Amino acid sequence: MRIVSGIQPTGNLHLGNYLGAIRNWVAMQNDTVTTGGECFFFLADLHAISMPHDPATLSAGTREMVAALVACGIDPERSTLFNQTQVPEHPQLQWLLNGTARMGWLSRMTQFKDKAGKNRDSVSVALFTYPVLQAADVLLYQATHVPVGEDQKQHLELARDIAQKFNNDFCPEDKPLFTLPEPIIPPAAARIMSLRDGSSKMSKSDPSDMSRINLVDDADTIMNKVKKAKTDPEPLPSEKDGLEARPEARNLVGIYAAMAGTTVEQVLADFGGKGFGAFKPALGELLVEKLAPINARFVELKQDRDALDAILRKGAEKARAAAAPTLAATYDALGLVRG
Ligand code: TRP
Repeated sequence: MRIVSGIQPTGNLHLGNYLGAIRNWVAMQNDTVTTGGECFFFLADLHAISMPHDPATLSAGTREMVAALVACGIDPERSTLFNQTQVPEHPQLQWLLNGTARMGWLSRMTQFKDKAGKNRDSVSVALFTYPVLQAADVLLYQATHVPVGEDQKQHLELARDIAQKFNNDFCPEDKPLFTLPEPIIPPAAARIMSLRDGSSKMSKSDPSDMSRINLVDDADTIMNKVKKAKTDPEPLPSEKDGLEARPEARNLVGIYAAMAGTTVEQVLADFGGKGFGAFKPALGELLVEKLAPINARFVELKQDRDALDAILRKGAEKARAAAAPTLAATYDALGLVRG
């Protein structure tokens, strides 16, 4: 098993990122003890320049995200943790795969259509070819499994299409070059919604900071945000069905279950019939208890720029060594003379 996944270094990690992606990464990393697999996790900083961005924010966000990932449990000794920029094999392979990816495939990507909207002529070329870089990110390491959110499933299918076409066009039938990666999509229950609106995703771009729990929030802030979270006047139901038309209640119960490592059914068995006056303080305390050690490690590490840069250097070295054979074989398959 070769697990590869990336996250954009947007800075300001929140509970949605933690429960939706990072906690899965940590679990997969820890599972490799028994599965014997290998994990590659990286900051997709090259993807971040596909949209208008501020350079200073990007570099600060990249280091901050390394600190956050390590604080959450990604161990640079066990996983290969790096940023894309320090592994030039990623954009090199992307260029080679640009020869295989088709305009029509990229034109059908819903993320491109959503982000470009009516401005197709004025968005960057990088936004259009973004999924080819993403394909390179995983194909470079012969990834077998790629944990991603539901919104990235189409990009993974594209990576498979590119791999398949390249193998067909340039490799002997019995010697395909690229492994077709499988997406690993977390269950819908892992989707964490805004604390102010149970129907929209918890997001760092929500103008209201009350809508999310940030990894940098201290205990008082967390308690206050949970206390002010939107709810309805009904007590919690004892059965899961009772949450169906109650998005805010469902979200809070889901967060509780995820943080406690239990099921929604179990949480309702404990809290069914009780009001939010009892549930919210319990949820706040659980969040504080689980996030405090992460928060402390994060705050400490964030200030240690030398340590962060050393982690990135070492990760890049490991990644480049793993990437080299596939990149070389790709040049060769295309008839490009490496000398
Ligand atoms: N596009 C992904 C996202 O926005 C991030 C990403 C970049 C990625 N390269 C990747 C995810 C490779 C998985 C594998 O979430």
